[in-house]
Amino acid sequence: MSLNLRNRSLLKVQDYTQREFQFMLDLARDLKRAKYSKTEQEHLKGKEIVLIFEKTSTRTRCAFEVACHDQGAHVTYLDPSGSQIGHKESVKDTARVLGRMFDAIEFRGFSQQAVEDLAKYSGVPVYNGLTDDYHPTQMLADVMTMREHCDRPVHEIKYAYVGDTRSNMGHSLMIVGALMGMDVRICGPKSLWPSDEYVKIARELEARYGAKLTITDNPAEAVKGVDFIHTDVWVSMGEPKDVWAQRIQLLKPYQVNTALMKASGNPRVKFMHCLPAFHNLETKMGEQIFEQFGMNGLEVTEDVFESEQNIAFEQAENRLHTIKAILVATLGD
Ligand code: CP
Ligand code: NVA
Repeated sequence: MSLNLRNRSLLKVQDYTQREFQFMLDLARDLKRAKYSKTEQEHLKGKEIVLIFEKTSTRTRCAFEVACHDQGAHVTYLDPSGSQIGHKESVKDTARVLGRMFDAIEFRGFSQQAVEDLAKYSGVPVYNGLTDDYHPTQMLADVMTMREHCDRPVHEIKYAYVGDTRSNMGHSLMIVGALMGMDVRICGPKSLWPSDEYVKIARELEARYGAKLTITDNPAEAVKGVDFIHTDVWVSMGEPKDVWAQRIQLLKPYQVNTALMKASGNPRVKFMHCLPAFHNLETKMGEQIFEQFGMNGLEVTEDVFESEQNIAFEQAENRLHTIKAILVATLGD
């Protein structure tokens, strides 16, 4: 190993330096190749890893489970209602119990403080599988996917994130772009811009790593000349249902549709989304939104989603390789 990340947690992107983040990306690329070429070796034999999910998940849970199985570790899954955490036992007490049984903890939930407390009191590495504030494991997959689709060095990549910019994805894509020295444009209505606390973190990284961070409410300006356009759901897990009406009204002009893709001026521009996405009526939520607001497709239209420009499924696969890289880097033999 060229860098020593043993026993480190991943609670938020900015806990890592650019070099450390780059190291995990390189390791993820190597692990992906090893899996494809059937030369993968087990670096996590006998490790016990607990996965705590206060919110639901498809990709993050599956990526952790498959990564653990591929690498010889065992997993224990605690679902949103299947443990005492929060109901009968504090995070601090839970951390002290789990730290005695497990080698590492993954946590997806609401509060960033909870994941920080788990790391503080468990004594083992803790990985943030999404909180209201951040989605750091997703960021490794996002940068890995952008690197795979661009021949230029990572600091020459330009991307825009369009939509709800004060969400876990908005914060994380703003901060990771600054950390990696990229040209990152964060775009949404002013009332949904990230608060000063998050912008300050990104601005400091921007200065340190020579990045270019733009925060704007003008979608055409945001996407001009970019290589990638990212978006995310307009209402995140844990937000009340009654915010939908206002959110749709605010974010309609920020929908990723063919016109916005064209406004990039780049015929090779790619579409990215952490998923799940609302792009048609094939989900219960999609149907309900259509009945209530008459919109078929929200943050992205069906034609963009079903186009060749959509690389969100490669991005989803890269969750596996990047989560495996975190585990191997921090826990591996
Ligand atoms: N992108 C992501 O975190 O997906 P899941 O909610 O399915 O884990
Ligand atoms: N912002 C979304 C991301 C889902 C992966 C949410 O928190 O629901």
